[in-house]
Amino acid sequence: MKSADMKGILLAGGSGSRLYPLTRVVSKQLQPVYDKPMIYYPLTVLIAAGIREVCVITTPEDLPRFRQLLGDGTAWGIRIEYREQRQPRGIAEAFLIAEDFIASSNTALILGDNLFFGGDAFPRAVAEFQEGALVFAYHVQNPRDYGVVEFDAEGRAVSLEEKPATPRSNYAVPGVYLYDARASAIARALAPSARGELEITDLNREYLRQGKLQVRRLSRGTAWLDAGTSSSLHEASAYVQTIEKRQGMKLGCPEEAALRRGFISLDDFETLASAMPPCEYRDSLRAVSAEVRRVGVVGA
Ligand code: DAU
Repeated sequence: MKSADMKGILLAGGSGSRLYPLTRVVSKQLQPVYDKPMIYYPLTVLIAAGIREVCVITTPEDLPRFRQLLGDGTAWGIRIEYREQRQPRGIAEAFLIAEDFIASSNTALILGDNLFFGGDAFPRAVAEFQEGALVFAYHVQNPRDYGVVEFDAEGRAVSLEEKPATPRSNYAVPGVYLYDARASAIARALAPSARGELEITDLNREYLRQGKLQVRRLSRGTAWLDAGTSSSLHEASAYVQTIEKRQGMKLGCPEEAALRRGFISLDDFETLASAMPPCEYRDSLRAVSAEVRRVGVVGA
C-alpha cells in the first residue's frame, strides 16, 4: 500500500480543561502556537507524509470553526471530512467515529495537540507501513504523563502502560500512530478504562499481544512537543519562534507541504498567497515560491 492510500485522522476534540479559561470560547487546537493555529502543525505532518484524505474529529460546538479554518481541503489538494465526538470518551473512540471514513484503508492517527518537527521518521513509516500497528518511542524526562513503552535487551517492545505511577522506562509513546484496517474492530472490543475512556494504549497493547506492533524510536533530531498545558503551549510557541526566526522559514505550513508533495502546483500556491492579507505568513509563502522558481521543488 502506498502512502497515498493511507488515510489520516486528526483528533481535535476534548474539553481543553487544562487550558481553561483560554478554552472557554476557543478550542485548544485552535489556540495559537506562535503564529498559526495549533491544528496547522499536525495537519502539515499528515500532508508532508503524503496523506491526502483526512478526517478531523472534534466536538459538535467546535466543528463549524474547524470547517471555517480548514474548509474541505481543496486549497491544499487534499480532502478533509469532519466528524463529531459528542463526549471525550477516549482517543481510541476515533476508530469507531471514523469507521465509515476508514473503510478498509490503513490509517494514521495524529493528536491535534502533538507537534513534531524535524526528521523523516513519520513519512518513512507511512511509506513503508504494511500491516499491524506502528508507534514511536521518544525519550522524555517525565514518562508518567504519557503512554510508556518498555523494551527488552534486544530492543523489542515488551510492555505498554498508560501514565504509569512507576514507569518501566523513559520512553513515551507520542500521539501519532499507524494502524491497519483492523483498528476499528479492535477498538470496538475494548473496555473503557478506570477514567471511562477507550484508551489508545489499550488498542496498542492488543496489537502488541498479537505480535503485530512495531515500535520505532525517534532520534534526538526529532522534536516532539505537546501543547496541552499553558506552560507546554508557551514552550511550543517559543520553540517555533526560535526556529522560524533563525531559518527565515515557517514550520507547520500546510500550503508549503502541499506544494512540496506535489498536491498543488506552484501557480496554485502563488494564488493562495495572493488571497492572503499582507502578513508575515504571506511573505514567507512568497519567499518559498521565489526559491522554488529558482531551484525547483525540493523536499520540505
Ligand atoms: O501526547 C501523547 C499522549 O496522548 C500519549 O502518550 C498517551 O498514551 C495518550 O493517552 C495521550 O495522553 P493525554 O493524557 O495527553 O491525552 P489527552 O486526554 O490530553 O488527549 C490528547 C488529545 O486528544 C487532546 O488534543 C484532546 C484529544 N482528545 C482526547 C480524548 C481523550 C479527543 O479529541 N477526544 C478524547 O476523547
